[in-house]
Amino acid sequence: MESVPRPAETPAPPRTSRRDFYLAAIYGLWSLMAAALSLPALIYLLLPPKLRKESDWVEVGDISALQPEVPVEMVFRRNRIDGWKVISEKSTAWVVKRSLNQVVAFGPQCTHLGCAYHWDETKNEFICPCHTSVFSVDGKVVSGPAPRPLDRYVAKVENNKLFLGALHESEPGA
Ligand code: FES
Repeated sequence: MESVPRPAETPAPPRTSRRDFYLAAIYGLWSLMAAALSLPALIYLLLPPKLRKESDWVEVGDISALQPEVPVEMVFRRNRIDGWKVISEKSTAWVVKRSLNQVVAFGPQCTHLGCAYHWDETKNEFICPCHTSVFSVDGKVVSGPAPRPLDRYVAKVENNKLFLGALHESEPGA
């Protein structure tokens, strides 16, 4: 018996069912939502804490009312970068006006063990109550266990405004 030649089989075109279409749409929407949610997290994780540089100078205040050689404790805020956080910290400086545009700003901690000291108007001296270190108006050790003069901020005055930079540790016997 003679066989009838069969037409060459051609692969059937892939059929997209309604189910496949819905699955593709759902996966597509999930992908979009995942991208939208993860993008801010990626930006947060991959970018440096800020390409900001901490400003070297902090404006502390107007010094036009200060009397020469009369220390005043001035309060200011300074930003500090801690890992990914920027922390605004309160700080103080004992500011002594020397002349119109010249000031000295001392760090607020005693150089013995870091207690807060204060200005004693009657004695004209800085006194630390912890172990009775005494400093002169120019920050030198007068008496007590403090091993070195008061630390000083880098300072500048512009239009009667005081700006402070880094706090420098003083040298013993300076
Ligand atoms: S901490 Fe100031 S004298 Fe000790």
